[in-house]
Amino acid sequence: MPAYAVLGAHWGDEGKGKVIDYLAENASVVARYSGGNNAGHTVMNEHGTFSFHLVPSGVCWPHTQNVIGNGVVVDPEVLLEEIKMVRDAGLPGNVSVSDRAHVIMPYHIVLDGLEEERRGSDAIGTTKRGVGPAYVDKVGRQGIRIGELLNPEDLALRLPEIIKFKNETITKLYGGDPIDGDEIFEKTRRWAAELKPYIARSEDLVAAALDAGENVILEGAQGALLDLDHGTYPYVTSSNPTVGGMLTGLGIGPRAFAGVTGVFKAYCTRVGSGPFPTQLDEEEADIIRNAGPVGEFGATTGRARRIGWFDAVAGKYSVRVNGMDSMVITRLDVLDGWDTIKICTGYEINGKQTDRFPIDSQMLGESKPIYEEIPGWDGSTAGITKPEQLPEGAKRYINRLEELLGIKAVMISTGPRRAESLKLDDLLK
Ligand code: IMP
Repeated sequence: MPAYAVLGAHWGDEGKGKVIDYLAENASVVARYSGGNNAGHTVMNEHGTFSFHLVPSGVCWPHTQNVIGNGVVVDPEVLLEEIKMVRDAGLPGNVSVSDRAHVIMPYHIVLDGLEEERRGSDAIGTTKRGVGPAYVDKVGRQGIRIGELLNPEDLALRLPEIIKFKNETITKLYGGDPIDGDEIFEKTRRWAAELKPYIARSEDLVAAALDAGENVILEGAQGALLDLDHGTYPYVTSSNPTVGGMLTGLGIGPRAFAGVTGVFKAYCTRVGSGPFPTQLDEEEADIIRNAGPVGEFGATTGRARRIGWFDAVAGKYSVRVNGMDSMVITRLDVLDGWDTIKICTGYEINGKQTDRFPIDSQMLGESKPIYEEIPGWDGSTAGITKPEQLPEGAKRYINRLEELLGIKAVMISTGPRRAESLKLDDLLK
């Protein structure tokens, strides 16, 4: 029963979409388990260039079922738009969404904006897609689930109370404009009619593939250090991108796992607020930000990403809390041309050195990185596909990351297109 976890190892944007599109050639199911349309997974292949926010990245293959699991929060407008985009582009994969995925309602988007405004200088820098408020309602037991859209009579009993409460919060607490309940009702009717063909018991789809011994890819969104429990709280997203989120977010058991792969960028990036010990000053950051064929700007919000050297302290922590047994290194080509490359191997906190990742965000913010410097490499790694094409310096860099993290690299991504991939070992066995 081979389920392969492929998840972001640092703060997201590691290039999971590209990696999963590549791997999905050998998988019958690709399943998302957490987050919402705060994610932006970029895929470039013979069909075109796509930025998927909800639809899993296996959709470019005809044999794949692309499952949006119960752990995901779904903005129906975005999902419908994305399904249309998939169909218009002639992409062959099937898409389905769990009947128990929670809905991002229009008031969640309004509240995401108002809450961020209220935080002022302490803002988290959310994507303002309503993701956090939708999870708050899920936990608070006043969420709406996708399956409920198909039952308008029951929804008509619940929704007015919820909207009344949301409008009181919006107007009385935040001084915002109330939302129109009738408009929301109308929307839920349209969503139900248009989404009906895609709504499924997603755990059954995943279980059927696992029982048949077919490969299932569990597609991470965001990154381990944005995890609500294991990340840099409170500067996190409101779900569990780490491996545990796969069990609850899809309804699978731990015996299904055949491997857990962390996707690491060859350096680090972060968008939004929160501590980032290896962050570079803007001059150096700009060099990296603009070096590759696709710059370091958010696929969802267009924000410039903060850039830093590879943080192996955070990386080791991520390996441990996810039980990673292999890694993929992406955007290696972006580091072409540096004389010296730095890797953070420890932190100095209040005059003391440590190689343990401090979970407390304030302490992490006070951590000064301790760097190991290694020589860069001559020549370009852009687009290379064979291990023998790797410059010696690039091999040394990869080997050093493997040593520090204690796991092997199975694939190196050397460009944004599917074909720009260098396989070192089989990830799906
Ligand atoms: P939210 O998920 O929109 O609530 O945002 C919470 C934090 O997670 C913010 O710092 C966002 O920038 C960050 N975040 C959310 N989704 C992603 C992503 O897909 N990549 C990188 N950062 C993300």
